[in-house]
Amino acid sequence: MLLLGIESSCDETAAAIVADGERILSSVVASQVPVHEKYGGVVPELASREHLRRIGPVVDEACGRAGVTPRDADALAVTQGPGLIGSLLVGLVYGKALAAALGKPLVGVNHLEGHIHAVLLENKMARRADPDVEEASVPNVTLVVSGGHTVLYRVETAPAAGTRDAAAAPRFRYARLGQTRDDAAGEAFDKVAKLLALGYPGGPAIDKLAGFGDPEAIDFGRVRMKGSALDFSFSGLKTAVLYRVRGSALEAEAEDRRRWQSELRVQARRPTADDIRGRCSRDTLDLAASFQRAVVTELVERTLAAAENEKVPGVFVSGGVACNSQLRQSFAREARSQGFSVFFPSPALSTDNAAMIAAAGYFKLAAGEHADRTLTAHASFPLGVG
Ligand code: KG4
Ligand code: ZN
Repeated sequence: MLLLGIESSCDETAAAIVADGERILSSVVASQVPVHEKYGGVVPELASREHLRRIGPVVDEACGRAGVTPRDADALAVTQGPGLIGSLLVGLVYGKALAAALGKPLVGVNHLEGHIHAVLLENKMARRADPDVEEASVPNVTLVVSGGHTVLYRVETAPAAGTRDAAAAPRFRYARLGQTRDDAAGEAFDKVAKLLALGYPGGPAIDKLAGFGDPEAIDFGRVRMKGSALDFSFSGLKTAVLYRVRGSALEAEAEDRRRWQSELRVQARRPTADDIRGRCSRDTLDLAASFQRAVVTELVERTLAAAENEKVPGVFVSGGVACNSQLRQSFAREARSQGFSVFFPSPALSTDNAAMIAAAGYFKLAAGEHADRTLTAHASFPLGVG
């Protein structure tokens, strides 16, 4: 079964062709980084306009690279939410119109469910190439960690209605175990990078610089959560960084970097990570490294505590922040020492893409779900119950 997936929930316009929920024939992602860069964050109105401009060419490109036309797809899957409502609507309406014009079934997919399926999809591809690759199994605990979300789920499967075999036609079930009470982890990376003028988007910028600083230089301590120990909070950490910077030499240094970057923009030039590092003092690099370590510790420890509580053998980590090199290393090390398996998608499938939407949509269709004309987008669209 050939699915055309469409994703436009934030600032990436994406389309993909995926066969049987387990083989990527093409995956095209049009990034809007150059559009939002000078604002230091995603501007929703500009994002919607960019999606409008690019959705058609991106879908054409995905079909072209897979050697198919939209007519060859057996069904379409579109992201329904959560996300920026104007952005979501562009992809959703495009998908709905295309499905109606071609007379194809359509299914709405939760973006968070897509991130979870990115792990399963890629693991299946890896196992087909090498059967010795460990299987990413369900049930598991999944951390979805991105610019908009930091949330922990227990993921399991049940047989689809009318069937008994969960393996042949699984219906996925998600129970929310914890989530951030304020900023998402990626949002904290982006805000700290903006405060220190370290580049855009902030997560990859800090990741590259942190390797040159001392992660032990500043001890931010652990975040204490009243109520659920599996919830997260990153706004205190961000404020702690702000207090260290405000009125200090770090602030003047960040101002210099900001001025230099806006001059480069006028000349239509972009600084490389090395250029930025060349303008960072030891103290700035230490601050970036220590902040990153604090975020990573929160993510790793709470996720592994959830896996322990849920008595599952493995952990999935997905979403843009799953690209973070220290996060990957810490998870691999800690999970191994505590006896859990840990699975990440490749960086390209960790950040927003449409292959994960097509993969999640395939299982929904196989389990008998599909959308009708009332399908609409939801800015807030929780997955599972907490
Ligand atoms: O999943 P994604 O593409 O979009 C959302 O659904 O939000 O995630 C984007 C987020 C941004 O906040 C970005 O700074 C962060 O992921 N990110 C990273 C890294 N790469 C992307 N954060 C830390 N380290 C990275 N290497
Ligand atoms: Zn995402």
